[in-house]
Parts: sequence; structure tokens; C-alpha cells
Amino acid sequence: MSINVAIDGPAGAGKSTIARAAAKHLGYIYVDTGALYRAVALYMLRQGIDLSDTELVGRALRGVDVSLCYDAAGEQRVLLCGEDVSGEIRTPQVSMAASQVSAIPAVRDFLLELQRKIARENNVIMDGRDIGTVILPQAQVKIYLTASDEIRAGRRLKELIEKGESVTFEAVLEDIRQRDYNDTHRQTSPLKRAPGSVLLDTGDLTLEQSIDRLITVIREELDGAV
Ligand code: DC
Repeated sequence: MSINVAIDGPAGAGKSTIARAAAKHLGYIYVDTGALYRAVALYMLRQGIDLSDTELVGRALRGVDVSLCYDAAGEQRVLLCGEDVSGEIRTPQVSMAASQVSAIPAVRDFLLELQRKIARENNVIMDGRDIGTVILPQAQVKIYLTASDEIRAGRRLKELIEKGESVTFEAVLEDIRQRDYNDTHRQTSPLKRAPGSVLLDTGDLTLEQSIDRLITVIREELDGAV
């Protein structure tokens, strides 16, 4: 049976950086499920589809072919109808659109089996919003990774500035709060702590400390599960 580590938490908590490093260390595949919602969102934006029209979005899913693959360095790449869109899905516009489309039940259903299949076939650390609650409730390890909204906004600001985007702290904080609200208040699979999950607050931890802590928690939980 494959080993499944489910990590959920709000936007900008550092899930992807921390989970990716821990997966590399443990020899597991890292699956960033947010990239799947982002790819769906990018498709809808490109088609000019009104994201508030859930029926239209649901029908448009017929044209969506999204998949994940891994490059020679082991990095996840997202393919949208065969095109590598891994870079294009990281803009603030796609972030907000992803938050919107991810609230639509048809979109969540559409991506469910793909995520479960990857977890069945591989040892994974899978990160998202509903991994421990809906996608992999049987995961051997479940973690809720978070930090305060100001800390998360500060980290996201740094990332965006490094990428050459010109944004303010206030705008990023507002964006984070809006996405938190969307993600925790939607009816389908809202972001919440899974029963039995370990809470990991990275607010006072450096990146290195967060990675070490995550690896320790995973090892302890797996030992406890045997
Ligand atoms: O983790 P991220 O910022 O790349 O996620 C983009 C959006 O997708 C986010 O607003 C919430 C949504 N999402 C989700 O609803 N469920 C997941 N498993 C992953 C992401």
C-alpha cells in the first residue's frame, strides 16, 4: 500500500515549499493540487468564460484535459491539453480565478479521481485544501499547516517581488484574506482541519525549521500508525 501524507492549509502558509522539500528528503512524490485548480481556472479565463456562471463552467469542463508530470529534476509540471502551463498559472489573476472555480462542485468532482489515482499509485505528500478531509481521508498522516495572515502575506509579497511583480503588502494581504474567506466559506469541501490532523504553525519557524518539523511529524505519525 502506498504512503499518503495529506497537507492542508490556507494560501501562502508555505505548504508547497515545505512539502516539496520534505517529499524530496523522504523520496515521495510531491503533489501540488492547487496547480490543478489553477490550470482549470486558466482554461476558463482563456475561453472568456464567466466564472460566476457555474453551469457554464461545468459544461466547459468537457474541453479540459489536465494532467501532472514530473521533469528530470523531479519538479511537478502541469499540462493543460498537453501544453505546459506551470509558469502561467502563477499570476495573481489566475490565483483569484482558481479560488472562484474551486468553489464549484463540478470542478471538484472533475479533479477528484485524478488526485486519488496519483495517491493510490505513489507514495505522496499531497497538498491542498481538502486532502485530509475529502480526497484522502484514509491518509496515514494528515497535517494542517498554517501561519497568521500577515506572515503569509509578507512571504507571498517577497515571492511576487522576486518574480518582478509590482504589488503592495496591503494588496497582497487583502488578496490572502479574500482567498481565505472564499476557501473556508464555500459549501463544497471548504478548507478546515481534518479530524486527527496534526497542527503545524510555521509562523515562528524559519523555512529550514519548518521542513525539519514536517519531516519529524511525518516520521512520528508513520511510526505511530504501524
Ligand atoms: O494552493 P493554491 O494557492 O495554488 O490553490 C489555488 C486555489 O485552488 C485556492 O484558492 C484554493 C483552491 N484549492 C482547492 O480548493 N483545493 C485544493 N485541494 C487545492 C487548491
